[in-house]
Amino acid sequence: MSAVLKNERFLRALRREPVDRTPVWLMRQAGRYLPEYRASRKAAGSFLAMAKNPELACEVTLQPLARFDLDAAILFSDILTIPDAMGLELYFVEGEGPKFRHPVRDAASIAKLGVPDMETELRYVMDAVRTIRRELDGRVPLIGFSGSPWTLACYMVEGGGSKDFARIKAMALNDPQALHALLSVNTDAVIAYLAAQRAAGAQALQVFDTWGGVLSPAMYREFSLPYLTRIARELERGDTPLILFGKGNAAYLDELSQSGAEGVGVDWLIELGDAARRTQGRVALQGNLDPTTLYGSPDAIRAKVRDALDSYRDGNGGSRDGHVFNLGHGMSPDMNPDHVGVLVDEVHAYSAR
Ligand code: CP3
Repeated sequence: MSAVLKNERFLRALRREPVDRTPVWLMRQAGRYLPEYRASRKAAGSFLAMAKNPELACEVTLQPLARFDLDAAILFSDILTIPDAMGLELYFVEGEGPKFRHPVRDAASIAKLGVPDMETELRYVMDAVRTIRRELDGRVPLIGFSGSPWTLACYMVEGGGSKDFARIKAMALNDPQALHALLSVNTDAVIAYLAAQRAAGAQALQVFDTWGGVLSPAMYREFSLPYLTRIARELERGDTPLILFGKGNAAYLDELSQSGAEGVGVDWLIELGDAARRTQGRVALQGNLDPTTLYGSPDAIRAKVRDALDSYRDGNGGSRDGHVFNLGHGMSPDMNPDHVGVLVDEVHAYSAR
């Protein structure tokens, strides 16, 4: 399909093979903190116009790579493309985040949902993957992604972002069968979506379970974990690695590391060394600097980067293998781009071996 990969650090780390330096990429590495992103967005008119245009999606995917020595690119898109294609109609209100015109709140509307066709209804995503692969020309691998069934369901039922997740939690209590039907169709769609991104050229795949951590343990084990595990088991992916990222997933690392996924992404509420001890080399670990570290001075950032690298090594039997450096969650629009450069360069310099 295209050029030989020139930088394999990220894929090697996910296989827990030795690398010359710890690979690093950042969640939300393309976004509003970059002036060139804001310029592209202004020219396009909106975030959705950009995401739905493969050339523009490619342009903004590559922007952070031009500035920083990152070891992976991530497709510029959104997790809410799937429910949009299911007919819920995604739109954005400035300052309020994503919303759906047709949220699903009962068994009848859930029963009408089906898996979208990947090469028609979500063709713009697959075209973006193909375009980015071509333009990357093997510089670094391209990560494709999806939301988790539970996290997608949160937006689909709430109709947008939420503070307390009252509607979907009420559904979990009052009509768990309807919620399981929704999670089941979402899982089918996520599996098809990730498989299609892989066929289009994605070289690694990440599932964002952003809202798994708002569930009690019993509810997480009923409404999120089984569906993540089903993705890890059923997604046919050859040697393309799958990473399960979840906010608030520290309590479930045993299960997640036995799900069949190649990598697990963790937030900053657990020491990386503890995560490594808990997972016993069964998976690669990705993370986990508190994103607000980027508000610190360059010296403070370097110190926190070294702490995270050493914590992982200490918990991983003295070896840095099997670690993909990242933040514990995404970047914010008011972060200083220069600080990203400090972080990325320190990861590479300090972990050189
Ligand atoms: O990481 C990357 O650089 C890749 C691109 C990416 C975006 N969204 C671009 C985006 C990824 C991986 C996502 C995933 C996503 N989208 C998640 C899961 C990841 C996470 O953060 O936990 C979620 C929950 C969403 C839903 C969503 N889309 C939200 C909450 C927002 C922010 C709304 C706002 O006003 O801040 C979006 C929009 C969005 N997705 C933006 C970007 C760069 C901002 C759009 C803009 O205003 O330009």
